[in-house]
Amino acid sequence: MRPRQQDHWTQVYTQKTPSEVSWFQAEPEATLRALERLHVPSSFSFVDVGGGASNLVDALLQRGWDDVTVIDIAGSALAAARQRLGENAARVHWEVADITGWQPPRRYDVWHDRAVFHFLTEPDQRAAYRRTLLNAIAPAGLVIMATFALDGPEKCSGLPVQRYDAETLSAAIGSGFTLVEDWREEHLTPWEASQWFTWCVFRRDQD
Ligand SMILES: C[S@@+](CC[C@H](N)C(=O)[O-])C[C@H]1O[C@@H](n2cnc3c(N)ncnc32)[C@H](O)[C@@H]1O
Repeated sequence: MRPRQQDHWTQVYTQKTPSEVSWFQAEPEATLRALERLHVPSSFSFVDVGGGASNLVDALLQRGWDDVTVIDIAGSALAAARQRLGENAARVHWEVADITGWQPPRRYDVWHDRAVFHFLTEPDQRAAYRRTLLNAIAPAGLVIMATFALDGPEKCSGLPVQRYDAETLSAAIGSGFTLVEDWREEHLTPWEASQWFTWCVFRRDQD
């Protein structure tokens, strides 16, 4: 665990409510549309990496997903999500972990990462992320990732980010994955600032 990173993110979610952060979405539309378009069944296991206090978990539970894990470096983020969900929080597996050092206890059918990978600005961090991903994702599993686009912001939450298009994100994820689809999305922050994202869905190649 990187203590400074963890302190940063723990403070963010202690000082702001989930709807005050720039990455807030009332509805995680891009993810939900992709799951529908790709006919991903709700019986699949799903891990939201760096899920923070996102509403995605609520939307998945409403749609009948019953094997959902949310991981985040900040316990305060997960506490906010759990509080919002009330008794439904017990239907989710929550884990406080740095994704670059996480040892997955099992494999998942869907790996979801919105706005987390782009904080890994050093090659060794990205290599560690890929190691975790390879240990966590099932053969033929789907990897849904969103990062700031090449014309997106240079920083998020005061931290520098690495920006991607589909080509460079595919290269960063590396061999063993096939790009299924990609698209650009304009996210509007709660104060209506425009942020362009690159979205990619990869399928893990069969072993
Ligand atoms: C910009 S927010 C996005 C949150 C969420 N994915 C969403 O779309 O609302 C980035 C999230 O990644 C988490 N995070 C940052 N670095 C991480 C790491 N190394 N491991 C796990 N989580 C991390 C932060 O705590 C934060 O919740």
